[in-house]
Amino acid sequence: MEEVGKEEVEDNTDANMEGALIARDRVGVQDFVLLDSHTSEAAFLSNLRKRYQENLIYTYIGTLLVSVNPYKELDIYTVTQMQLYRGVNFFELPPHLYAIADNAYRVMCNEYNNHFILISGESGAGKTEASKKILQYYAVTCPTTEQLQIVRDRLLLSNPVLEAFGNAKTLRNDNSSRFGKYMDIQFDFKGAPVGGHILSYLIEKSRVVHQNHGERNFHIFYQLLEGGDKDLLCWLGLERNPQKYAYLIQGRCAKVFSINDKNDWKIVRKAFSIIDFTEKDIEHLFGIVASVLHLGNIQFEEDSNGHAIIRDGTQIKWISKLLGVHLSILQEALTNRKIEARSEEVLSPLNVDLAFYARDAVAKAIYGRTFTWLVNKINGSLANKDSTQKTVIGLLDIYGFEVLDTNSFEQFCINYCNEKLQQLLIEMTLKAEQEEYELEGIEWEPIPYFNNKIICDLVEQKHKGIISILVVLNISEEGVVCSEQSLTRCLLLQDEECLRPGEATDLSFLEKLEEKVGDHAHFVTRKLADQKTRKSIDWVDFRLLHYAGEVTYCAVGFLEKNNDLLYRNLKEVLCNSKNGILRDCFLLSELDNRRRPETVATQFKNSLTSLIEILMSKEPSYVRCIKPNDNKEPGKFDDFLIRHQVKYLGLMEHLRVRRAGFAYRRKYELFLQRYKSLCPATWPHWHGPAVEGVERLIKHLGYKPEEYKLGRTKIFIRFPKTLFATEDAFEIRKHLLISRLQAKYKGCLGKREYMKKREAAIKLEACWRGVLARKEAKRRTWGAQIIRKFINGFINRKKPLCPENIEFVRLVQYKYLMKLRDHIPKNVLDKSWLQPPSILEEASEMLQKICIRNLVRKYCRGVTAERKVQLEQKVVASAVFRGKKEGYVQSINQPFADTRLKENDINPKVLQLLHGEKIKYVTPVIKYDRNGFKARDRLLVLTQSSAYVVEMAKIKQKIDYATLKGISTSNLSDGIVVIHVPEDNKQKGDVILQCEHVFETVTKLCMLANKQNLVKVAQGSLQFRIGSGKEGTMVFSVGQESQVFKAKTGQLTVVSTQAKS
Ligand SMILES: Nc1ncnc2c1ncn2[C@@H]1O[C@H](COP(=O)(O)OP(=O)(O)OP(=O)(O)O)[C@@H](O)[C@H]1O
Ligand SMILES: [Mg+2]
Repeated sequence: MEEVGKEEVEDNTDANMEGALIARDRVGVQDFVLLDSHTSEAAFLSNLRKRYQENLIYTYIGTLLVSVNPYKELDIYTVTQMQLYRGVNFFELPPHLYAIADNAYRVMCNEYNNHFILISGESGAGKTEASKKILQYYAVTCPTTEQLQIVRDRLLLSNPVLEAFGNAKTLRNDNSSRFGKYMDIQFDFKGAPVGGHILSYLIEKSRVVHQNHGERNFHIFYQLLEGGDKDLLCWLGLERNPQKYAYLIQGRCAKVFSINDKNDWKIVRKAFSIIDFTEKDIEHLFGIVASVLHLGNIQFEEDSNGHAIIRDGTQIKWISKLLGVHLSILQEALTNRKIEARSEEVLSPLNVDLAFYARDAVAKAIYGRTFTWLVNKINGSLANKDSTQKTVIGLLDIYGFEVLDTNSFEQFCINYCNEKLQQLLIEMTLKAEQEEYELEGIEWEPIPYFNNKIICDLVEQKHKGIISILVVLNISEEGVVCSEQSLTRCLLLQDEECLRPGEATDLSFLEKLEEKVGDHAHFVTRKLADQKTRKSIDWVDFRLLHYAGEVTYCAVGFLEKNNDLLYRNLKEVLCNSKNGILRDCFLLSELDNRRRPETVATQFKNSLTSLIEILMSKEPSYVRCIKPNDNKEPGKFDDFLIRHQVKYLGLMEHLRVRRAGFAYRRKYELFLQRYKSLCPATWPHWHGPAVEGVERLIKHLGYKPEEYKLGRTKIFIRFPKTLFATEDAFEIRKHLLISRLQAKYKGCLGKREYMKKREAAIKLEACWRGVLARKEAKRRTWGAQIIRKFINGFINRKKPLCPENIEFVRLVQYKYLMKLRDHIPKNVLDKSWLQPPSILEEASEMLQKICIRNLVRKYCRGVTAERKVQLEQKVVASAVFRGKKEGYVQSINQPFADTRLKENDINPKVLQLLHGEKIKYVTPVIKYDRNGFKARDRLLVLTQSSAYVVEMAKIKQKIDYATLKGISTSNLSDGIVVIHVPEDNKQKGDVILQCEHVFETVTKLCMLANKQNLVKVAQGSLQFRIGSGKEGTMVFSVGQESQVFKAKTGQLTVVSTQAKS
């Protein structure tokens, strides 16, 4: 895997190298390290020029960026460009500020350490622009959240505010920073900008009251007059015309073509609202700005005693209103000085010169301190409140080395600052690097460089340095001020005598310098100089041979500026001001403090020392800005000017060290720790010495011998591309490792979750099983009790009801009854009945009876009238024939008809003869004569009272039921019926009939006659009466064929077939 990553990286870097070569043919080289003759200044300049003329303003020396001010807008700062550089390795794209910014950011995120980007160069070289561009780059490319947007906006908008109050047009730069600025951008662990902090250094206060020709005061004054609305100006007592204000017109260029004050005013106002300024703050702030302008217009005149007086009170009234101070006290303070004589305080009137001095001192003091208040206010709004650890990237945009026609105390401080920064550079790169090679035992040919420590010492050494000398003079001569005017007068006269001996003046300062540091190789005065140089040094000058060149300083004003004196009574006035900002700036405690405040130079020296400390604890990146010409002209490359800057910026030395040195070094342990995952032998743990681990690692990565060196404790990598290739491989590897880690972690989480669930499930199961078991145990106990009770009940079942058996008995009863419910007979014919247990026999019997009764009742209720008649007849038939006559059983299912013939079938004559008697039943029959036994077809008609044998229209025989003696049938299946009649004359004898429906006919007859008891079923034979006392015999037998005939014996023989069963 890592091999693949490495190959890819190598391919990329090769392609980049090729790309770089093509670019080199066209427009020089984009890294000076690639120059053929790296020691030649001419080659260096030529490369810079070539590129500059192609608008390629950036060139590297290793990881240091050289930037040449294009003095025109280039299309290289777009958001697209920013995205292009974001997260891309340093050498993959053409040199750019963004690459420096991104590299610092990436290293910060990866290694979680602090960085700073030192932007240096002389005034107008583009430092401030560069720092703004870097800030914009972070604002656009860093991850951010909605809450952090406000921090981002504040970071960006802090610039216009500070520039308005701290920048001014100078001869060199229309937007020259007149203060030093170090800004920390704080990032959280995700790399999001979450806060910031600004340190400001030595604002050039003297500009408030004095500007050189062609220069302006701070921008804010002009912005206020141009952009402030009418009401505001009116409230401040100002007119919209800078020409009206003495402090604004000394340089005679209040209006500058390249500056749009009106627009800038709008931006500043917007910034105020974003950076948490209240309306009160803004009111107070502009009150102070306006007061400065009013102060500048105060004029003093001499009264008859030679004391200063203010004739026109207009200005002072406005000041008293805007600063909230008492008018007369202010007036008094501006024209008098309070002197403490023993325990008394005496007011001493000022002369006109001193009054002007006091006025300017007030203006400078309130402006200077307001600027500090402004920085603090911005810091308050940028502060990140949460206490989690942050990493920072610091941007240092500090005034560059400055040489003017007349150089004063400010230039002295600025150039001293540059000496210190050069020291830092030397300490951190040239010196440190070379010392390290030696220490690590790396073969190395020392590069000579000029160490400017000697100059720093000249300026800052305790007791012996220039600053110490100045401070000592300030202290010893406190209270005595040599006014600038009187000093200048002396100078003009070239008259040393006018300066009285003993009075501490800037000249005595010069003398002290000559006395104390006169023999220093980098210090010269007119007195100390040789013949040749003497001419170029004035009596009041001293010259320092800075690392960047010679600078001649005019000592005039050094003491005063360093003293920065504000008369005590003026301070009192300001301390009692009602203006909130002034109250914050001038604390009453300051008045009580009798200790002398630190002089300006000492403060500056101390703040520089702590700045250097801050920077030394961070990883550096450098941007060296070069100013191509003095006319702010695009495309003009002034060789002389640039050569000078190349020299004093130490670029050649840097290049030489870079060429000879190593781009990167790291302690073995740290290197191994970072990259050990790229080699199977070192991953995940290397147990041997770190150096061996590193050796294995780089062997695995395929480092070539010329690419690295192994020192005593560190590995040194010569080319950045080697490191970047390794870093890229690590980047790829990291993804793999992270996904593995994530997988493991997710696995762990999953497992943990699973274990938790499992445990919970087991607990639940256990609980549930417990519940079930308890339930089961309860059930079993209950069961056992029930069984015991059951057995007990069973044993005692026969006993009378008692507690032992009652439940059992009830259960048996219940069970029986429930079972019985399902086995109840369904109809009357069903005689089955569930066998009862012995204890229920009686009840069962009763139930059975009830049940049968119910069934019978139900059955009876369901029987129709016709059916009832049928059944009655069938009952009679059963009583008569059951078990006696063959064919009876077969007849049971055949219902009896009401009649076999209807009335219509009977001859009407017969009906007549019946005299309306209701006919109940008619059936055709065969009648056998009593003598010859001849068969004749007849009808048998039964009425309510009689039976008639009818032949066609005649009634052959009538038998009253009342007289009927009996009815006989055989036991066989013939249809013979004999109706026995009484023996009287009228009666012809018994009637022998054969009918088809013998059971029906006999039943109907006997029922109508109500003579059921008289029906006889004869066995074998029967006797019948023939009339007139004679009797005949009828014999019944079974044969093949049914027939009726008179046998030879004279007996009527009836043969019937066997009835079908
Ligand atoms: N990258 C750039 N692109 C275009 N113009 C630039 C660039 N850098 C600087 N300039 C121009 O140069 C001018 C001066 O730049 P800047 O104010 O940054 O100088 P400086 O080094 O901060 O000077 P000082 O020390 O006086 O503050 C800018 O106002 C701008 O017009
Ligand atoms: Mg600047």
